[in-house]
Amino acid sequence: MNEITIKTPDDWHLHFRDGDILAETVAATARCFDRAIVMPNLAPPVRNAADAEAYKERILAARPEGSNFEPLMTLYLTDRTTAEDINEAAKAGIKAVKLYPAGATTNSDAAVTNIDGLADVFAALEANNMLLLVHGEVTDSHIDIFDREKEFIDQRMGPITQKYPTLKIVFEHITTKDAAEFVLAAGGNIGATITPQHLMLNRNDLLVGGIRPHNYCLPVLKRNIHQQALRDVVASGSDKFFLGTDSAPHEQAKKETACGCAGCYSAWAAIELYTQVFDELGALNKLEGFASLHGPKFYGLPENSGTITLLKESWTLPESITLPNGRPIIPFMAGSEVQWKLKS
Ligand code: DOR
Ligand code: ZN
Repeated sequence: MNEITIKTPDDWHLHFRDGDILAETVAATARCFDRAIVMPNLAPPVRNAADAEAYKERILAARPEGSNFEPLMTLYLTDRTTAEDINEAAKAGIKAVKLYPAGATTNSDAAVTNIDGLADVFAALEANNMLLLVHGEVTDSHIDIFDREKEFIDQRMGPITQKYPTLKIVFEHITTKDAAEFVLAAGGNIGATITPQHLMLNRNDLLVGGIRPHNYCLPVLKRNIHQQALRDVVASGSDKFFLGTDSAPHEQAKKETACGCAGCYSAWAAIELYTQVFDELGALNKLEGFASLHGPKFYGLPENSGTITLLKESWTLPESITLPNGRPIIPFMAGSEVQWKLKS
């Protein structure tokens, strides 16, 4: 197959950041996605409906001429989030909130230190049919970073799903066989997003032959058996799994430094790279479900009406991109050849 047309996809997990960088990040996503779930981990974070509405306006203002791209806003849970905040968010049309365990990742210091204290918030989410989006890693210093997702499943995901049996939960950017198996075995109210980097790479791609800061993200890449499990699950076509790039831009200087930031800026080639993976798996017939159908179904939103076409035609990702502030950023897979190309 040298050409594939699918319903226009959505990105169910990404980071646009804020300020002048929006001109770059929003355009890169709007080139092929109609909607995106926008992560709220700004500094300060998006904590309530008013913050989300103001941020949404800034994103809309950054859309390229003629774009109908729709940002889907989320709130950032803290220890002080109330059921009232959730009710207000529901009234404002906000579909989801994000749970970061405090300290788990970029701009998560203000996030949740006591998940048990959120019982009223979880009940309000369930009552309002809003989704809980979870960064599923424990942060205990004695837990090895490669085990933090598995530990979160055992300590947290199991109990939460039992206590709130109808709460819709997205286990974001899963990275392990354990998470894939947990989601497969769970009820229809539990889904997961998967990034291009966790399908394409494993921890050797981070550490063998030198540290590769542009492959560093959180949750960190795992060993190859986990990568293989994620590839198997997307190739299976299960509707519990859908596209979420976790495109997460950090300037080059913040990645290539003694203490580099986590995140892969994948928006420049995400849909093309996912297509390449599905092609390698002999599962191009499952791409549309993953990219364009399973997400809207899980969120209870309509499918997009348009289509995009990808051609099997190789092109090379730029080595570097210049941000609106004049500083460079290195895109995910910079300088690599990509086998599929979006037909413009
Ligand atoms: O790699 C990551 N980058 N993982 C996250 O959870 C957050 C993200 C970011 O905001 O940079
Ligand atoms: Zn993320």
